Amino acid sequence: MLKLLTLLKDGRFHSGEALGIALGVSRSAVWKQLQLLESELDLAVYKVRGRGYRLAAPLMLLDASRIDLMAGNGSWPTFIHDEVDSTNAEALRLIASGQVAPFLVLAERQSAGRGRRGRAWLSPFAQNLYYSLVLRVEGGMRQLEGLSLVVGLAVRQTLLSLGVASAGLKWPNDVLVGNRKVAGILLELVGDPADVCHVVLGIGINVNMQEAEIDQAWTSLRLESGQLVDRNQLAALLGDNLRDYLVRHREHGFSALQEEWEQAHLWQGRSVSLIAGSTSIDGTVLGVDHQGALRLDVNGVEKSFSGGELSLRLRNDS
Ligand code: ATP
Ligand code: BTN
Repeated sequence: MLKLLTLLKDGRFHSGEALGIALGVSRSAVWKQLQLLESELDLAVYKVRGRGYRLAAPLMLLDASRIDLMAGNGSWPTFIHDEVDSTNAEALRLIASGQVAPFLVLAERQSAGRGRRGRAWLSPFAQNLYYSLVLRVEGGMRQLEGLSLVVGLAVRQTLLSLGVASAGLKWPNDVLVGNRKVAGILLELVGDPADVCHVVLGIGINVNMQEAEIDQAWTSLRLESGQLVDRNQLAALLGDNLRDYLVRHREHGFSALQEEWEQAHLWQGRSVSLIAGSTSIDGTVLGVDHQGALRLDVNGVEKSFSGGELSLRLRNDS
């Protein structure tokens, strides 16, 4: 099926006969593979009598050598999968099998892409970026403080340089355009955080996706810019920005990036509810502290909150 996809990826018409010859199969076998492409990979194929078949839109598949070529300051060893359950899960398996970090795992599609607290991340084939960068962290807790917020800054910077000028952040891990989610970040850690550990920086960016059933407001780079985005170029740019921000974070700590993060935070000064399980705290967003914890004004008193189980929602009166 992937060989057929490679033949069709230019978005031009190909006759059933020509496809059959190139694949060494009958025309009816081509027809069956086309149906599989549509059902399993969720790709629309146009069929026109007398002209043949073409994909609804041209496809550019992920390509490590193109990413490498476009990256400004080198790239990490990269593993690209046509399909994987989750690039974060695959990264964790590679760590367990002794793969030396840093390294990068990418996929065309995730069958079990994950968000925080077991929520699902919709990951259709060849439309978006599913990106997991693995780092070995030796500096103890300080190297981890605010790390997911730093990744958010790098993602936002990447989107700004691609022309999505209004991309901003929502504490702790969302990248939004207005109130629509364009990217999400999920950090997963193995080892001893106080000593030596590995951290997986999982990033999902909606790139060329134009239709999806997601139970909250979302958008994609294509919907925002009106243009098809080259995911290899995006991966290269993201890599460059991650390198820059990670070096600044490693050398100076999160406090050096705190102000920049607050400037990028879309909900500064807004009235919010902070939800932790069944309890909820109302307050006004002041910003973040030196460790990346959320600072809220709660009835005139400044309080800081951190932890993976917290969710922020706008209050109706804000
Ligand atoms: P919070 O982080 O504040 O708890 P959240 O609702 O954004 O809120 P996350 O775990 O960060 O939760 O993200 C997972 C959620 O994102 C899913 O439950 C779904 O609503 C939404 N989602 C899933 N796939 C996508 C996608 N490709 N693009 C945008 N949003 C998605
Ligand atoms: C969120 O907003 O809750 C985080 C979503 C993170 C999705 C990315 S896609 C690449 C990596 N692999 C996963 O399974 N999740 C992250």
